[in-house]
Amino acid sequence: MMPDGSHGELRLCQRLALDDAEARALLEAMRAGSSSRSAVVLTPKAPPDYVPPFPCEDMSAVSWLPPRVFVPQAGKGISRPTAYEDYRNGLYYMLDLSSCWESAALAQVSPPARSLDLCAAPGGKSMLMAARYLPQNHTANEVNAARRGILRQNMELCGVPDVTVTGLRPDQWAASGERFDLLLVDAPCSGQSLLCKGIRNPGCLGSAMVNGNAKRQKGILLAAVQCADPGAHLLYSTCTYDPDENEKVMAYILRRVPGWEAVEVPSLASFRSRLADFAAYRLYPHHGFGAGGFCCLLRKND
Ligand SMILES: C[S@@+](CC[C@H](N)C(=O)[O-])C[C@H]1O[C@@H](n2cnc3c(N)ncnc32)[C@H](O)[C@@H]1O
Repeated sequence: MMPDGSHGELRLCQRLALDDAEARALLEAMRAGSSSRSAVVLTPKAPPDYVPPFPCEDMSAVSWLPPRVFVPQAGKGISRPTAYEDYRNGLYYMLDLSSCWESAALAQVSPPARSLDLCAAPGGKSMLMAARYLPQNHTANEVNAARRGILRQNMELCGVPDVTVTGLRPDQWAASGERFDLLLVDAPCSGQSLLCKGIRNPGCLGSAMVNGNAKRQKGILLAAVQCADPGAHLLYSTCTYDPDENEKVMAYILRRVPGWEAVEVPSLASFRSRLADFAAYRLYPHHGFGAGGFCCLLRKND
């Protein structure tokens, strides 16, 4: 039997085709707001043999965990990772573990010669990319000026090499004639997973916010695909659950833009979305790796 919930909560569970146990778990997580799980990603400033100066969990059984990512142990008597000088000096960067999960698909992508993070601030996905393969010729782009300032500070503090910070709109990138072999679109979204972190997000379950975001996401992606070289990859991710901002946006691009296909990510097989007939992946808070998200890796045929 479907658990009790607000109209928005029940509508979401139905749209996600969750069974009763999954729906209950998601609603509990949204109400408890305690699903955050911190992760630290080592920056290019941290030497190859660097280990964080605080106790970390054994994550050796987690096959999708990106390189140079650690999960700090939480508990009494353990100082917060942000309390250390190494953090202030930019040796590691903090984010939610679900952001690391969203970047796991990059395991399928060879080191790019030229990459563009189209929605980059405050810099988490660019940092995860830099942890996997030191970028050459990377552009971290952010349209919002205030957020762009934070992005620039983070890239500098953490010593990300060969990075240019820019502030063009996606349509300006499309018109620029610039081409890349890796595009990251960590899209602005309704942010439903914020509820599971205890952050208020009024309206995020309503159709107005979801539809507005889906329209914006499609626009960003239609511009992004124009910046792709043949053989390029595009990693799309969000921190929201609604299929209209996830599987349906990807299905729209695959239908509308010839020559692109979704790429299987073997390490994410157990997260495969039931809402798509192509390779797309969903993380829910009850999986235990943070507040949740969505990712889908696309490839442009040669
Ligand atoms: C989910 S956040 C990106 C988080 C970032 N990738 C990270 O890992 O730290 C989405 C970003 O998209 C930006 N954005 C908002 N509207 C946009 C648009 N129309 N085109 C491109 N970016 C947009 C927001 O300012 C925001 O910084």
